[in-house]
Amino acid sequence: FQPKVLMGHRVLVTAGPTFEAIDPVRGITNHSSGKMGFAIARAAHEAGAEVTLVCGPVHLPTPWGVRRVQVESALQMQAAVQAEVDRASVFVAAAAVADWRPAQASAQKIKKDGSGLPPTLSFVENPDILAGVAASDRARRGELFCVGFAAESHDLETHAQAKRLRKGVPLLVGNIGPTTFGQDHNALLLVDEHGCRAVPHGPKLALARQLVAEIARRVAAPPV
Ligand code: C5P
Repeated sequence: FQPKVLMGHRVLVTAGPTFEAIDPVRGITNHSSGKMGFAIARAAHEAGAEVTLVCGPVHLPTPWGVRRVQVESALQMQAAVQAEVDRASVFVAAAAVADWRPAQASAQKIKKDGSGLPPTLSFVENPDILAGVAASDRARRGELFCVGFAAESHDLETHAQAKRLRKGVPLLVGNIGPTTFGQDHNALLLVDEHGCRAVPHGPKLALARQLVAEIARRVAAPPV
């Protein structure tokens, strides 16, 4: 039994990778499994929140009671977040959004042209969904509590604190451990303006429940 610490809150979570099309049959993506974001959505629902989960392509069942919005690309994820975020009081960005997308997806499958030379792809940067939401009026007024994630290979604490400030979020969660992609276990480092606290190694659902409790301690009373 989980205490209903987020009762009355609306929580918006992003999860999974994005897929950036090159042509109708190819694209670039990453190894994010979406498991942490799905665990957070489940834990937030258990805590009494109304939860919307915007996710890229993943092979995971929708947690019970959670509303799922399925997207593919970073631009679609941004549009889905923008459509939902005005109703939310908590935003947790757990998605591994692709940093770049092909400048133009080809409408037709790119064929080998017989020259032996590969095609040249050019890329453009994707929008930073979290930073955009964190800069919004509601977030700045404290009506929307934003949480970001960081996957760093070294100096996690320093990088996570720098990322927290760069993204403009009150709470940033660092993934401890070299490879958490696809794993069912992880450990977290919670970084806020006071410093950091480790959440020891455990199943992602257990970590998600602790993260939800930390969020609940920090958010204002639910909007009426
Ligand atoms: O900059 P970096 O990708 O390391 O930041 C990770 C955090 O920012 C995660 O919370 C991720 O969901 C979010 N993010 C985002 N949009 C992007 C890139 C990252 O929301 N384009």
